[in-house]
Amino acid sequence: MSTNALTRYGPPAAWGAHTDAVLLTGATGFLGMELLAGYLERTDRHVYALVRGVNDRQAHARLQNTLARLFDAGHPYEERVSAVRGDITRPGLGLGNRRRAALAERVSEIVHSVASVSSRTSCTPRAINVEGTSRVLELAAQCHTRGEGLRRLTHISTAYVAGQHRGCFSEDDLDAGQRFRNAYEQSKFEGEQLVASWRAQLPITVVRPSIVVGERHSGWTASFNVLYWPLRMFSRGAYLAVPARATAPVDVVPVDYVTDAILALSRAPEAVGATFTAARLFRSPRGVCAGRRMGPPRAAAPGCGGAAGTGAACPPPPPRTW
Ligand SMILES: NC(=O)c1ccc[n+]([C@@H]2O[C@H](COP(=O)([O-])OP(=O)(O)OC[C@H]3O[C@@H](n4cnc5c(N)ncnc54)[C@H](OP(=O)(O)O)[C@@H]3O)[C@@H](O)[C@H]2O)c1
Repeated sequence: MSTNALTRYGPPAAWGAHTDAVLLTGATGFLGMELLAGYLERTDRHVYALVRGVNDRQAHARLQNTLARLFDAGHPYEERVSAVRGDITRPGLGLGNRRRAALAERVSEIVHSVASVSSRTSCTPRAINVEGTSRVLELAAQCHTRGEGLRRLTHISTAYVAGQHRGCFSEDDLDAGQRFRNAYEQSKFEGEQLVASWRAQLPITVVRPSIVVGERHSGWTASFNVLYWPLRMFSRGAYLAVPARATAPVDVVPVDYVTDAILALSRAPEAVGATFTAARLFRSPRGVCAGRRMGPPRAAAPGCGGAAGTGAACPPPPPRTW
């Protein structure tokens, strides 16, 4: 390990005097990894990545491992990223007061991508997606009062906050009295409610992807969850046919498209206080139902005919671009 590497983790004194930095949560995950690459490649800002680990060294090693999956050896980003050991289920994100204060001095943007995407248990998703989000909001508030203040907190939600709602569910909708299929959907809904309650105090943008899949051109993915295992079974001939309804296609969105959207929205002043659905535009036999448009491919609320929806027609809103 080089001496330089040793200066990028550990106590705040070793973090360097960066300002206007980005704090990214979930950088070792599927979407977070792509966001990490995006901020490193397309900005010159320092990225602090909140990473779990038994100690600073392990958190650093896990982040190094993520960088090695993203870039070839000898990439130029070693000095642009620091691992901050933390756990969003722990009080104060598992950071001591000095680390929180040091982050608050340096960070002007937060992208919160951590989630428990498991729907198998009823308590873990809530501990991470609701209570953990609450702790991120508290740190965001601290960042807002220090250094250069907070320019943006981007909260990654999901289009499935629509739950079992029937008909159009736009970005202006959240609590429509919907029921949920699982603890994941419910916890993401509650997390978004919490985020909404901070909108007057913080510059927040919410992004709701549908189902995130590999990159649009290469198909590259760091994760073979969700849709991939049934696809694999299908490709192996395990099923002769898959029952489906033409009016309710499964809505998927490439991970690089979601990343492009998040990066562009983070620079758009008009995105403060707004919610955006990152999904494919769906044209149902009864009409088009679009959400706020996020550039090609255009965005649509999946509650309007997407994976969560029924294909109900509703008038398209005016185009909105960033
Ligand atoms: N994937 C999709 O299809 C999809 C669709 C819509 C919305 N989303 C949303 O997009 C975001 C990212 O999802 P993803 O698919 O990238 O998830 P993922 O691959 O499961 O990654 C989850 C990330 O959260 C971290 N994490 C989990 N618990 C933590 C804790 N207690 N403290 C700190 N970090 C913790 C994980 O770190 P470790 O490496 O330590 O486990 C990992 O980096 C989530 O908000 C999700 O709800 C995803």
